[in-house]
Amino acid sequence: MDIIDLTAYGERFTADPHPFLAALREQGPVHKVRDAGGGEFWLIVGHEEARAALADPRMSKDLRKLGWDVYDADLIGRHMLISDPPEHTRLRRLVSREFTPRRVEALAPRVQEITDGLLDAMLERPDGRADLVESLAYPLPITVICELLGVPDMERAEFRRWSNEVVAPTSEEAAFRAFGELSAFLASLIETKQRTPGDDLMSALIRTTEEDGDRLSSGELVGMAFLLLVAGHETTVNLISNGVRALLAHPEQLAALRADMSLLDGAIEEMLRYDGPLESATNRCTTEPVEIGGTVVPALEPVLISLAGAHRDPSRYEDPDTFDIRREARGHLGFGHGIHFCIGAPLARLEGRIALRSLLERCPELALDTRPDALEWLPGLLIRGTRTLPVRFA
Ligand code: HEM
Repeated sequence: MDIIDLTAYGERFTADPHPFLAALREQGPVHKVRDAGGGEFWLIVGHEEARAALADPRMSKDLRKLGWDVYDADLIGRHMLISDPPEHTRLRRLVSREFTPRRVEALAPRVQEITDGLLDAMLERPDGRADLVESLAYPLPITVICELLGVPDMERAEFRRWSNEVVAPTSEEAAFRAFGELSAFLASLIETKQRTPGDDLMSALIRTTEEDGDRLSSGELVGMAFLLLVAGHETTVNLISNGVRALLAHPEQLAALRADMSLLDGAIEEMLRYDGPLESATNRCTTEPVEIGGTVVPALEPVLISLAGAHRDPSRYEDPDTFDIRREARGHLGFGHGIHFCIGAPLARLEGRIALRSLLERCPELALDTRPDALEWLPGLLIRGTRTLPVRFA
């Protein structure tokens, strides 16, 4: 099979991968590709194949099998997204009860309060202009997840830089450095919590460790904090900003939503399908030869599942390139599928709902304040989003 060089598509792929993914999908659901770092892996772009691969136990998340040292346990600790059962099952059980729809719904008043405060500050700007990422999409989820975990006044600018680098690396060296810095930061945070525990999730996890020593090692504690903090905001920021960008680019859809806010839940599902925050699921590797859509991927090969590719598959969605907030988008793969299905989905949906409703209600004149082609896209194949979203609201 020919190896497809993704870098040949250049910057255009980062800004809009959909035409390239569609061209690949037309040739078949599975391809061997090479990315900017020179790494070769298998890319799944068909919906049915993506869904099956996400739930396939032969697709391991334990990337030590590939000898990928950026995931070295010494650096960031073990966590759910780099573990298979039974380790994964144990780690997930420790936190899953914190993120049930009922527990999360109880956070609604606080999420609304944070949103209102952020919008108050934004609307005070005399020029009627703001970067929506900076004003709302970024601070809302980071504040919520920090409060939940009990991170007081963390050095947010630093944390943001490291965390951005980890999910959308500008270079391999920079990503490696960021992993190390984040790890040191989290270890000192955990030490502080050990000395002065609070009524928060991190303190509860530390207590679990101390009461039953073999349940959560200190490395796993760092890994858990890392995963929840990073996964808890790097994604939701792009649900809000990609969602607003899609609405502003489709005025008839925006008007329909403004006229009938009961369409909001469906609109959020469509945002997750049309331009969801995760362009691809996180890396997996085959434990044995696996046949996917007629192609046999050999054992011990890295596999990337393109959620963006799956979500625009015409065999699953009619007119997949059309943004339609009334379509039945549920069942999309935006939160993954199978045992690694996003634990934070109820929280992300809640934040998305509150942020979008409040923004639209308080900004009847909301408009994009830049040319769409001037937006800077996040690099890499994992995250889909722009660094900023300049808007006018008055
Ligand atoms: C719109 C926002 C979000 C999106 C689109 C999203 C998407 C995803 C996806 C696709 C996966 C599966 C990855 C894979 O199988 O490779 C995942 C896993 C995960 N997400 Fe989210 N996520 C979002 C928000 C959150 C939030 C707010 C949290 C915070 C609690 C969170 C925590 C996690 C965790 C811990 C996992 C790993 C679960 C496991 O391995 O069992 N996510 N997310």
